[in-house]
Amino acid sequence: MKRIAVFVSGRGSNFASILKKIQSGDIPAQICCVISDHTHPPAFDIAREAHIPTHWVGRKQFKEPHEYADFLLALLAQYGVELIVLAGYMKLIPSPVVHKYPNAIMNIHPALLPNFGGKGYYGKKVHEAVLASGVKITGVTVHFVDEHYDTGPIILQERVDVLPDDTPETLAARVLQVEHQAFPKAVRACCENRLSVHNREVIWQE
Ligand code: GRF
Repeated sequence: MKRIAVFVSGRGSNFASILKKIQSGDIPAQICCVISDHTHPPAFDIAREAHIPTHWVGRKQFKEPHEYADFLLALLAQYGVELIVLAGYMKLIPSPVVHKYPNAIMNIHPALLPNFGGKGYYGKKVHEAVLASGVKITGVTVHFVDEHYDTGPIILQERVDVLPDDTPETLAARVLQVEHQAFPKAVRACCENRLSVHNREVIWQE
């Protein structure tokens, strides 16, 4: 049973999709806590309903960056966290946390990285940029997290066709449906210790 901390900033539909698979026994894990940079994100309601403790931890609560990182590390240690899942978390994870959890922090991005990723590419902006570029294929990327936005080793990618009459909203909705399949699949493989990383390549064991 892997002990997971989920980080969220908003709605929490990806968190809900992973929670469901854990509750049904498909993923051998326990979500120990849900952490947010917001005080009352909708995702906290999902956590509370499942009796999972929630914590608001924002950089601005601390004077110094190292105090913020130390607080997060202590919180994660308190819960014995082994894997961090970023499910719509909009902030950068501080580097001491990244170093403490090498290839043990996962993120989902609603496009095919390395395109349409990095600072400023979040939420609707990603899909607007995809449509403005004229690409015919977009998708979903699940990746391990390093110290930068959206650059860590890629675990899994799934494609989504861009349709001629797509708006950012219709495209986001179709991509989100694929996210809800892809993220639990990647989290499950990680919890079953079926992922290893060599240089930047993530190898799957079936
Ligand atoms: C998702 O589109 C995810 O790819 C991105 O942020 C969004 C979060 O949605 N990182 P939700 O909070 O999981 O519903």
